[in-house]
Amino acid sequence: MPDNNQQNSATAAINVGRDDSNGLAPSLSTSSTWPSSGLEETHRQAKALHQTGNYSRYANPTVQAFEQAIAELEKTESALAFASGMGAISTVVLALCSTGDHIVAQRNCYAGTLAFFNGPCARLGIEVTYVDGRNAQEFAAAVRPGKTMLVFAETPTNPHLDLVDLTELGSIKGPFTVVDSTLATPLSQRPHDYGVSIVMHSATKGIAGHNDATLGVIAGDLELINDIWAYSVLHGATASPFDAMNGLRGIRTLDVRLERQSQSAQEIAEWLLTQKNVTGVRYPGLKSHPQHELAVKQMRYFGSVLSFEIASGREAASKLIDALKLIRPAVTFGGPETLISHSATSTHNSVDRETKNKTGLTDSLLRLAIGLESCSDLKNDLETALKSY
Ligand SMILES: Cc1ncc(COP(=O)(O)O)c(C=O)c1O
Repeated sequence: MPDNNQQNSATAAINVGRDDSNGLAPSLSTSSTWPSSGLEETHRQAKALHQTGNYSRYANPTVQAFEQAIAELEKTESALAFASGMGAISTVVLALCSTGDHIVAQRNCYAGTLAFFNGPCARLGIEVTYVDGRNAQEFAAAVRPGKTMLVFAETPTNPHLDLVDLTELGSIKGPFTVVDSTLATPLSQRPHDYGVSIVMHSATKGIAGHNDATLGVIAGDLELINDIWAYSVLHGATASPFDAMNGLRGIRTLDVRLERQSQSAQEIAEWLLTQKNVTGVRYPGLKSHPQHELAVKQMRYFGSVLSFEIASGREAASKLIDALKLIRPAVTFGGPETLISHSATSTHNSVDRETKNKTGLTDSLLRLAIGLESCSDLKNDLETALKSY
């Protein structure tokens, strides 16, 4: 990472996006509108960009405190929050792309992202070319000069834990580059440091971190974020102040949560490798991960998510999930509770068979979202379930 001032990120998370005059805790501004001093003031506000004091869809003080915190952590000039991660993705794409434009995207992006590319984008005549993000040169090779508006990557990927080389991606000139950095969070990697135009997060996950917010955010240069803001107020996927408050609260403890989750994920991934019913384990912190060296280079924490494959497919996966007592079946990650999901039939159910085959999204694949319980309790739960299914 070019500016590897990581020690400061943990401290920064405590201090970013603050206005201590309102107390230490984030304050909640629920107003949808603010009175002005008269016509001239209202006219000034109508021409202003992304400024509070007018109407909440344009800007809200709590949401803006969250945005400022993310911009400070990502070391970008600006940030913009949304009602969800998908709200962020769909707004960015529709703000920057028109009919006839072209996008280069990673084949194993989050299923919702793929569904947006394959559904609304296709319907609007925005063509998408898919590449294997593990070979980052494929992104550059697929760019059509003058036609490609966006290059979209996700690293690490959900649920495969594949990585994209941020140095390669950031060096692409011409189209805007976007990195979905949800699994890493701003405390593990900063794609903008490498030249990536827009960093995107589903803050529903580790950033908010308590399964009590649905929130998205992007970060980048001021001019670009302002351009996207101008479209976003029409698209209307505006972040709720309540969720932004929970996002801001989550940021304060993100470093310590991520450290604990990454330690447990590492221990569980290594232990799973030794289990006889387990046929494969994916976690960037494992030496056996094909991109482990890249993970060491560009990630500070390897994250809370790992995936593993068990012998004999969907039926066995279902039995294993049923046999777990502590680990709950649910489809998110980054929160306090450890969760398990069978990606092929849940989060990634909508992915077509051909893409599933190409990306290795098999019926034997299970995703573990490691929470904050004691690691030995989690291992005991998995051990009992692996023996009994
Ligand atoms: C990598 C990734 N990106 C984007 C999203 C979409 O985020 P949200 O559910 O907040 O819309 C998800 C959701 O799981 C995700 O895992």
